[in-house]
Amino acid sequence: MKKLVAFIGSPRKDGNTAALVGEIVRGAQAAGAQTAVFDLYAMNIAPCQSCFTCRQEPACSQQDDMAAAYQSIKDADAVVIGSPVYMHQVTGQTKTFLDRLFPLMDAGFQPRFGTRKAIAVYSQGNPDPQAFAAAFADNAAILKIMGLDVAATLVAAGANDPRAAAGDKNLMAQAFAAGQSLVQ
Ligand SMILES: Cc1cc2nc3c(=O)[nH]c(=O)nc-3n(C[C@H](O)[C@H](O)[C@H](O)COP(=O)(O)O)c2cc1C
Repeated sequence: MKKLVAFIGSPRKDGNTAALVGEIVRGAQAAGAQTAVFDLYAMNIAPCQSCFTCRQEPACSQQDDMAAAYQSIKDADAVVIGSPVYMHQVTGQTKTFLDRLFPLMDAGFQPRFGTRKAIAVYSQGNPDPQAFAAAFADNAAILKIMGLDVAATLVAAGANDPRAAAGDKNLMAQAFAAGQSLVQ
């Protein structure tokens, strides 16, 4: 059975990012996958301390909720990372999470634990879905070095109302289908 792990980086439990990630997870479940969802804002994730231990050893020196996240990623066939856009980038908690993925790449900037397919999810107030395409491409590039190969990027645009994405049938259908195909 395929395994999918998802990370939600919005403080709004019932917001757009959560709605889209939830629909991807439902799609993966419909395709027979086992799923796990992490709420980054409910987790104790300390900032990277730049100790560089993970450049020598394949692990982080800090003991916090990232331990479960690392294990879930290693166990997974597919990974979903979702965040609202804050100040043209991911939220602060999502950025802290991304920094802490440093142990997933080795000293030669290669994936240390293999490669998995991934979906990136964003929600933004700006109505133009392409407005932050450059930032999203940068994120995909660094995730690839860590072995998370972004196969699809879903964007809820013009989505300050927390129910906007859930009300967009087309976008939700895209999310469901993306979840299905991610684990097939
Ligand atoms: C502190 C803050 C910064 C934001 N910065 C941006 C931004 O740079 N560009 C944008 O389009 N929307 C911005 N937004 C709006 C959010 O991206 C938008 O409301 C998003 O859909 C929220 O996602 P959620 O419902 O999953 O929490 C910002 C919102 C907050 C609270």
